[in-house]
Amino acid sequence: MRILGLETSCDETAAAVVEDGTRVLSNVIASSRDAFQKSGGVIPEEAARRQVECILPVLQQAFDGIGLTPKDLDAIAVTRGPGLLGSLLVGTTTARILASIWRLPLIGVHHIIGHLSSTWLMPETSNEPTFPILTLSASGGHTELWLREAHTRGQLLGRTRDDAAGEAFDKGATLLGLPYPGGPAIAALAEEGDRMRFTFPLPLAEENTLDFSFSGLKTALRYLLRDLENKQRAISSQQRADLAASYQHALCRHLVDRIRRALAKYPDIRDVHLVGGVSANRHLRTLAADAIGNRLLRFPVKLSWCTDNAAMIAAAAEFLIRERGMPEDAWETEASLPLEEAMQ
Ligand code: KG4
Ligand code: ZN
Repeated sequence: MRILGLETSCDETAAAVVEDGTRVLSNVIASSRDAFQKSGGVIPEEAARRQVECILPVLQQAFDGIGLTPKDLDAIAVTRGPGLLGSLLVGTTTARILASIWRLPLIGVHHIIGHLSSTWLMPETSNEPTFPILTLSASGGHTELWLREAHTRGQLLGRTRDDAAGEAFDKGATLLGLPYPGGPAIAALAEEGDRMRFTFPLPLAEENTLDFSFSGLKTALRYLLRDLENKQRAISSQQRADLAASYQHALCRHLVDRIRRALAKYPDIRDVHLVGGVSANRHLRTLAADAIGNRLLRFPVKLSWCTDNAAMIAAAAEFLIRERGMPEDAWETEASLPLEEAMQ
């Protein structure tokens, strides 16, 4: 099948055409994130306004140069939630109108199943992942560990109890005076720092759980900064880099500790996947590779497939159709679509 995907759940406006859930024919992303560098986070009203400006040019570009017209499509897929309601509605309303004019089936996709599908996007189809798969999905709005038996079937093993991992990067970056989004900014500064210089606790270490908690690490960073500022007049650039490296290490160590625990509990897992914006983090990938022994580690082939994109939404729709059939039920756009609804 050839599916047009649309993704507008936050501050990215994205459209893509994907064939058979793996071959990305086009993938266009317009981001309004630069507008939010000063605010340290997304302003929902402003993000929705940017979505309205970007959606039609992005759609047009998704068809430019691929030699296809809407007649060559089999379906339209769109993120129906969770996300910012104003932003989501721009995508879902556009998709509903196009599906009606072009007489195509419309598939409403859970944003998370989109991320979970992103490891299938690849230049070649020969080497697809095999189930059961342990997937860490970590981004700005969510952090979960999934045990998947199929694309649309699996269990939620653990989830964050407070901040998401990406949010912890973003809030930490604000404390360190770095721009939004914080993940890439902290990762870049951490390259120059010593990750052993400052000690952070390992969250929920004593509990028998696969849940995550990041708010304590953020508070620990705040206190370290306060103590340094009390001792000396200004924090040196080396200290700032050491803090970035130590904080990044603490966040990644917590994420990988959950992977290690899950593998001990479910030893049959052969494939481990990292998806979502935080899966772009190189230190996380290195720590995860060390933790999983001879299992196969996968993450999205391109960096632009880690963060929000529409190719993953089109891929997810392909797998939803394959495993659950062409959906007949009507669906609504939902800002707080429950996580559990991503899987059966
Ligand atoms: O998946 P995504 O684009 O949006 C959500 O669904 O939330 O993820 C965005 C998040 C941001 O919090 C950003 O700081 C984080 O992913 N991120 C990273 C990196 N690149 C993006 N975190 C750590 N290291 C990175 N290299
Ligand atoms: Zn996302």
